[in-house]
Amino acid sequence: MGKKSVLVTGGAGYIGSHTVRLLNAEGYQVVVLDSLVYGHRDAVIDPSVELVIGAVGDRDLLTRLFEEHQFVGVIHFAAYAYVGESVNDPLKYYRNNTAEPLTLLEVMSAFECRSFVFSSTCATYGEPERLPLTEDHPQKPVSPYGKSKLMVEWILDDCDVAWDLKSAALRYFNASGCSTDGLIGEDHQPETHLIPLVLQAVKGEIPEITVFGTDYPTDDGTCIRDYIHVEDLASAHLLALKHLIAGGDSVRCNLGTGVGISVKEIIDIATEVTGKQVPVKFGDRRPGDPAHLVADPRLAKEILGWEATRKDARSMIETAWQWMSKPHGGRFPS
Ligand SMILES: NC(=O)c1ccc[n+]([C@@H]2O[C@H](COP(=O)([O-])OP(=O)(O)OC[C@H]3O[C@@H](n4cnc5c(N)ncnc54)[C@H](O)[C@@H]3O)[C@@H](O)[C@H]2O)c1
Repeated sequence: MGKKSVLVTGGAGYIGSHTVRLLNAEGYQVVVLDSLVYGHRDAVIDPSVELVIGAVGDRDLLTRLFEEHQFVGVIHFAAYAYVGESVNDPLKYYRNNTAEPLTLLEVMSAFECRSFVFSSTCATYGEPERLPLTEDHPQKPVSPYGKSKLMVEWILDDCDVAWDLKSAALRYFNASGCSTDGLIGEDHQPETHLIPLVLQAVKGEIPEITVFGTDYPTDDGTCIRDYIHVEDLASAHLLALKHLIAGGDSVRCNLGTGVGISVKEIIDIATEVTGKQVPVKFGDRRPGDPAHLVADPRLAKEILGWEATRKDARSMIETAWQWMSKPHGGRFPS
């Protein structure tokens, strides 16, 4: 029997590229579709993976890809993910994150491809009314980014009713860390995620890390988040894909560890891991940042058999530091 083909959009990005490596190692024939607006050609390192440069909204290109391959499913990572930018330029986010996937779904429908794994986000919940966040928590996103993702969840619900599209909307918490073998890692430009920013400050690439808010109602006054290792995210995508192609029902589930870690704790662990002081500046709270976000990850375990294997931030910071300490400094050549 030939290999099963999977289309991975955004597979040259951070989480996508780690997932592509796992799918490839598991024997899938992977086709990556990425515009490279943010991703990196060199993040797709397995020579047997086909990298197609193009946009999710390009109907002719998608049609050609679906004609050439019998995709058993699609994993859709492609999106813009800068919350602040989405506030200033919402239409860019609704166009790319909500409208472009319509074309992809139309082509999937035309080719009767009915398994779709979707990168959703804990940002679809908005300000928590109770913790930990369970999947039935009200979804009231505050940013256009979060809304652009929630709308796709709604669209997927409707496609399930109308043409039996089975989807897994995976609501990630804070993706972090890099591949354990150090071959690929996080290279966002601009970078907005805490762990790489802390490590950039350690390296002197930025003058300091700004801690936004020290008067939150948490033990040390800084925000608490749920950090999930990127390789654990990758394994959840593999299980979600298998679940859907085996005939499983649509699922919406959190991907987190269930463990909350504060900004100060991240800085302390980074100091231990790197053996260097982290230059820190304390600033005001940022509007729209909840004090505390932590997942209840039990549903993913129940339905997909998935559980995070790394629940402490140390391994996330260690793998990120390993990547950023390489001669390339944690930057892909292209
Ligand atoms: N990083 C996180 O902590 C996090 C948390 C929750 C959800 N997510 C979601 O996970 C997904 C992946 O995040 P990431 O951190 O790997 O981001 P990323 O920017 O590294 O990867 C996204 C990739 O999609 C590509 N892309 C964007 N729009 C495209 C389009 N229209 N057509 C083709 N390619 C396009 C980009 O070039 C990039 O390579 C995103 O959908 C993001 O919203 C990320």
